[in-house]
Amino acid sequence: MNRTSVTAFTKSRAWMDRAGTVIPTGATSAARLGVRPTPLVMAESDGARMRDIDGNSYLDFALANGPLLLGHRPQPVIEAVTAQMQAGMLYGAQHRLEAKLAEALTDVIPSAQAVCLSTTGSEAVHAALRFARAATGRRLVLRFEGHYHGWLSDIAYSGPGSAPAAPEADRTLPPVALSAGLGAAPDLLVARWNDTAGLERVLADHGSQIAALIMEPVPLAGVLEPAPGYLEQVRDLTRRHGIVLIFDEVVTGFRLGLSGAQGRYGVFPDLTVLGKALGAGIPISAVAGDHDILAMATGPAPHMGTFNGHPVAAAAACAALECYREPGFDTRLDELAGRLAQGLTELGRQHGLPVVTHQAGALVQTLFVPRGTELSDYAALVSATDRDRAAAFAEELLRRGVYLPPRNTWMLSAAHTDDDITTALECADAALGQLEENLV
Ligand SMILES: Cc1ncc(COP(=O)(O)O)c(C=O)c1O
Repeated sequence: MNRTSVTAFTKSRAWMDRAGTVIPTGATSAARLGVRPTPLVMAESDGARMRDIDGNSYLDFALANGPLLLGHRPQPVIEAVTAQMQAGMLYGAQHRLEAKLAEALTDVIPSAQAVCLSTTGSEAVHAALRFARAATGRRLVLRFEGHYHGWLSDIAYSGPGSAPAAPEADRTLPPVALSAGLGAAPDLLVARWNDTAGLERVLADHGSQIAALIMEPVPLAGVLEPAPGYLEQVRDLTRRHGIVLIFDEVVTGFRLGLSGAQGRYGVFPDLTVLGKALGAGIPISAVAGDHDILAMATGPAPHMGTFNGHPVAAAAACAALECYREPGFDTRLDELAGRLAQGLTELGRQHGLPVVTHQAGALVQTLFVPRGTELSDYAALVSATDRDRAAAFAEELLRRGVYLPPRNTWMLSAAHTDDDITTALECADAALGQLEENLV
């Protein structure tokens, strides 16, 4: 990899200007605009690396926000996709790979008896909510503040980036819309993560009207693991109130181990949403879970979609799953992530900077937050963390050839090597040194 510093962004800037005349802001997802010093325009990628149109090379820890758990352009996926393209791109009818994929998913996801396939994570979340509403005959959905479940209107409230509710709010929290004009969300309730007593109060008030409780079992915003026993309590409470428990494992799926967060923590939802790494770079998503709830898809809550079970995407997912099932796949990623997390914590100490590191499987979060701060929920995360410094850290890393999202979530892939971790830590050392210098 090119370890010399990255300085020229002339072509990226010029291309963003050109694109901006026909694509508002020049980016096709608002999530890509936060990159500093400027959003980059990429030319090619391979393994753990990407190259931009100025010729700068980056060691990639953003992984396209999650899908690239096998790295860029993994050979087994390319071969499977190419073979399927030769056989047929789209049939608008059943084909064998979709059932094979569903069989493989019921093998590896402990709570999965059946599977419905969609294209994006947002769509699969939407499908899961529909099935839950049809199965229970109830309308309300309960979600947690600071978790993300896609951009569709039913659920696009109180996600990462929204203002947290006041600390004194102790029943449901006021939903904060992601998008102008969404309105007051009468069918949505918002609760605090990691707060069993708060959840009990919400369920005492509304339990019999709630169709589904949806959560990221480890919310990506902050990588805030569930407190010991919390998931068990949520499972127990939802069962008692007849509420469908949905784990949104769009990020944690395959990344916290082959069977995701549910396998790691031993708590099993009624429905699981999968996306991102499922297709290893090709768009495909799934709702997996209880057979009777998913049976709603064929009757009261019809599941439709022109691209559902797309043959090329199903081929990619089958090939990716074979890679994820290889012995030692997740242990190796855990070890790499552990080394990175430890190294970053140690570097923070050496530089006298308040770096706190969270790790869950192949996810590592660095936060600039005073050590010892209690960080169990979104409001605490927002009030304690220095997001400007996090963005500055990502920028310093980018200038040294390491690509990390501004919110500082490091994602590990099978393409990363031990040497890559060494390089990343060397660059982090220099980047933190620069931040330290900026303080004086
Ligand atoms: C946990 C979670 N759920 C759902 C989604 C939505 O997935 P998509 O962007 O594929 O619609 C995302 C995307 O970032 C996610 O992180």
